[in-house]
Amino acid sequence: MLVTGGAGFIGSNFVRYALRAHPDWRVTTLDKLTYAGRRENLHDVMDDPRHRFVHGDVADPAVAAPLARNSNIVVHFAAETHVDRSILSAGEFITTDVFGTFVLLEAARESPALRRFVQISTDEVYGSVPEGSSRETDELKPRNPYSASKAGADRLAYSYWATYDVPVIITRASNNYGPYQFPEKVIPLFVTNAIDDIQVPLYGDGLNERDWLHVEDHCRAVDLLIEAADNGEVYNVGGGNHVRNVDLTQRILHLAGKPDSLIRHVADRPGHDRRYSVDTTKLRTLGWAPQMAFDSGLAATVDWYRQNEWWWRPIKDADPAFRAYYDTQYGRTRS
Ligand code: NAD
Ligand code: TYD
Repeated sequence: MLVTGGAGFIGSNFVRYALRAHPDWRVTTLDKLTYAGRRENLHDVMDDPRHRFVHGDVADPAVAAPLARNSNIVVHFAAETHVDRSILSAGEFITTDVFGTFVLLEAARESPALRRFVQISTDEVYGSVPEGSSRETDELKPRNPYSASKAGADRLAYSYWATYDVPVIITRASNNYGPYQFPEKVIPLFVTNAIDDIQVPLYGDGLNERDWLHVEDHCRAVDLLIEAADNGEVYNVGGGNHVRNVDLTQRILHLAGKPDSLIRHVADRPGHDRRYSVDTTKLRTLGWAPQMAFDSGLAATVDWYRQNEWWWRPIKDADPAFRAYYDTQYGRTRS
């Protein structure tokens, strides 16, 4: 199995999950190690003889194509993933998320051994969903450069099934949380700020809503779909935990033992999607249901960041690139 983006948040959890669930599988991680990709995320499997790490770019056919051609399964996580960064600068999102997916799909066309190509898409391709839940057949209405580039990749992958019979399936998961998530995303950012008594920047009125999915539940879904899905099909994956940002923030502060006065209301994200929600009936029909309750999952996640400062302090305290991003995104006040 080739796992692209395996040094990122979900990818590294998935590599670990797959090695545990399938003792006879061999896994290759292909990762460019952007700011979001870190060898540390795979620290406990780097020496596993069943795992190989390749440092490279999915958009570089010289590296990516032979790996994809020699795999039975490709799970394509690699992407630029942060909405706020896509608003600041969209170029890398097109290069990696769209063109990188094209490079892998071209290689997949020439791979006789390939039995599954999993395109990891996102529920954000549906755009903002004021009420109800998106079904897999709903129209895609992405509204920011990240979700638009993911929608392009999602439909490109579908086209390689429809046109060339590449065994593509597409997953659209909701917001993930759990260990090893880069501290630019709301949960790890707010948890680590809270630990350090730094204010947490809540966008707009704080009433935007997300459906939180524990990363381990996401990994189980992808693992099941590799075996049980039908080619050419799309599968939503959602935790069923719909929480408004202000409530999420208060829960995080409470778990961290910090006061609500750490909340700093800041200007809204441009084009901020109000709400995401996916209907997961199709996946549940295959026997999947989320196992992690949000209360215990969030508490375990807060504990993980508490106990693994070795993992996030080098980013938040010592990486000038992260500091530059933080200052650009939130202004220079870090109080
Ligand atoms: P992440 O930003 O933590 O990790 C992305 C990984 O991709 C990093 O290791 C990075 O180094 C690597 N990468 C980036 N550009 C690359 C390139 N050109 N070549 C090779 N590797 C490259 O992201 P994540 O949160 O783990 O998301 C993984 C996938 O899941 C993405 O496709 C994302 O769109 C999708 N997704 C994420 C969520 C979520 O809540 N995080 C929800 C649904 C779907
Ligand atoms: P994020 O983790 O960036 O995921 P996404 O935008 O892909 O859903 O943000 C989750 C929610 O939290 C989203 O509604 C934006 C909000 N948010 C804040 O209020 N402040 C922040 O500093 C960040 C990063 C996000």
